[in-house]
Amino acid sequence: MALLPILRFPDPRLHIKAAPVAVVDDSIRRLVRDMAETMYAAPGIGLAATQVNVHKRVVVIDVSDDHNGLLVFINAEIIEKSGECDSEEGCLSVPGVHETVKRAEWVKVRALNEKGEVFELDTDGLLAVCIQHELDHLDGKVFVEYLSRLKLSRIKSKLLKQAQDGKTAP
Ligand code: NI
Repeated sequence: MALLPILRFPDPRLHIKAAPVAVVDDSIRRLVRDMAETMYAAPGIGLAATQVNVHKRVVVIDVSDDHNGLLVFINAEIIEKSGECDSEEGCLSVPGVHETVKRAEWVKVRALNEKGEVFELDTDGLLAVCIQHELDHLDGKVFVEYLSRLKLSRIKSKLLKQAQDGKTAP
């Protein structure tokens, strides 16, 4: 297992659209394990492969309190959604920034697990918004890009300055 470096916004590689996984093989399972380890170490509740500069449709999420609820979503698609909620979000690629964005309140997702088996999951609350946030990453979208242009440019300058100063998350 290995900790993977996480890309920081506004790195342009965060805008690459990820490709579907053709076969769920050992290399994908290794990626899943490394991503989970990276997410737990950060610590975070979700990580998309895009954030570790691997442009494949793989996401790991664990919203449990005790890190024993790992969920793996490969080639996930939201097949139904409903409602709207205000979601206060942060992101490992946008350290130190927490902002409120609009999300669907409830989603139904279809994906493959790490064995390559199809499953469906419907959920609301934190897990629902986390799934939407991570799937956006695979499409090259970072949550702060839902904000106004002014807010976004302030966040960009702040992060670029942090990077220049060699600082990590405050
Ligand atoms: Ni994120």
